[in-house]
Amino acid sequence: MSKYYITTPIYYVNDKPHLGHAYTTLCADVLARWHRDRGDEVFFLTGTDEHGAKVQQAAEAAGLTPEEFTDKISQTFKQAWKILGLSHDDFIRTSQPEHQQIVQELLQKIYDRGFIYDGEYEGLYCIGCEKFLQIDDLINNVCPLHPKDKPVKQKEKNYFFKLSAFREELLNAINQGKYQIVPEERKNEIVGKLKKGLDDVSISRSEVSWGVPIPWDKTQTVYVWIDALVNYYSATQFIQKAKGFWPAQVHLLGKDILWFHAVIWEAFLLAAGLDLPKVVAAHGFFTVDGQKMSKSLGNVIDPADLIKQFGLDATRYLILSQLSFANDSDISLARFRERYDSNLANGLGNTFSRVTNMVEQYGIKKSSPVRGSIDDYINSLNFNGALNYIFGLSREIDQSIDNHKPWLLFKAGKIDEVKIFLGESVAKLQLVAELLLPFMPETAKTIQRALFADKITKAEPLFPRLTN
Ligand code: MSP
Repeated sequence: MSKYYITTPIYYVNDKPHLGHAYTTLCADVLARWHRDRGDEVFFLTGTDEHGAKVQQAAEAAGLTPEEFTDKISQTFKQAWKILGLSHDDFIRTSQPEHQQIVQELLQKIYDRGFIYDGEYEGLYCIGCEKFLQIDDLINNVCPLHPKDKPVKQKEKNYFFKLSAFREELLNAINQGKYQIVPEERKNEIVGKLKKGLDDVSISRSEVSWGVPIPWDKTQTVYVWIDALVNYYSATQFIQKAKGFWPAQVHLLGKDILWFHAVIWEAFLLAAGLDLPKVVAAHGFFTVDGQKMSKSLGNVIDPADLIKQFGLDATRYLILSQLSFANDSDISLARFRERYDSNLANGLGNTFSRVTNMVEQYGIKKSSPVRGSIDDYINSLNFNGALNYIFGLSREIDQSIDNHKPWLLFKAGKIDEVKIFLGESVAKLQLVAELLLPFMPETAKTIQRALFADKITKAEPLFPRLTN
């Protein structure tokens, strides 16, 4: 039994949860369930990122105090994850006093070790990204991820973290596999950028009051990204069940926030003398008509709407099978619908009713279990690959029914042959259910209950046909 600590990014509470957030959290859920099933000791953490200018502005716009506003929106995230059937062990909020205390302790430690100094910073700040932009980041003078918000010129006294001091150590750590960045292309990007050079980063704000005060200078608050990254570690210090889980096995995130997770966070941990996480894994974006799905672009799909239309497990399937972890993927409701019809209602659901129906009619001769594994897919974070493999097995069962035509064999009096064939089909379908458990837990259990019953009877449809 080994310890497996998995995290998702903590989400900004200026926004309600959309499919992009749901994807990362669902991937983490699958990994957490899969590891629990293998007997690993799992801690799965998600949560909300509640400080900073962006949240402060959103609260003001809603006419609420930041506390009232963050209480409300963090609830929305909790609720969304509940209806998606997520199995996280805790939900951290950066406004929790215990977290804030650990942020301050870590910062003080790094300050005492001489890695923080004060200086002045001038640059273009994107509130949407909560970061200073480099000239290379701009397209037509705006941030491509937040084209509607003009970057603001900011000049202020800040505290700086000596990120530049860690360039060599980070490159060595990556080369020696002390931590892994996956997929490979993303690792190459990070290594390429590190080789070009590394600037120090500002880690405090004088104008943002909604944040954790800098312990040695209460006129400044901690830069929201530093505050947020520390959640991964702080959870293991104050959440009872998470104690002893640092370092994380995997930080899962989207490619837009890889630099923070694969460079700044590691340097920060090195500066504090803490262990590095084992894997930092970045996935691509969901796009709609080629544009990143985001609130600021106004093209979001709410996972709750998908659940209303397709049901919980079908939604989990549709989201996870649509994106190949490493790449961007364009999605549309019409394509979800097509996939539901072909792979669920007419696919797995149909195969399941065919098999149970025939067993009820013709009987069964039990066959030995069929083995198969998705370990390689899971270990390489290839979730849609795993689902393709599992649904391929289900299609094979269906095709072999078409080929064998048990109803003709039965008519011809070959009863034993039919029973043996059905025994084998049931065994394969049991494997499908077992492999599906982390992805579609309720569906998998329904199939297992039906197929491990003393007497197999024709089952209710797993995925009702859609009427509109
Ligand atoms: N609060 C920071 C994370 C701090 S973690 C220490 C943040 N929050 S976020 O709410 O803006 O985004 C969180 C995650 O959602 C990121 O991993 C981001 O990549 C992901 N997604 C947001 N939109 C997305 C898509 N359209 N597609 C896929 N994932 C995307 O960043």
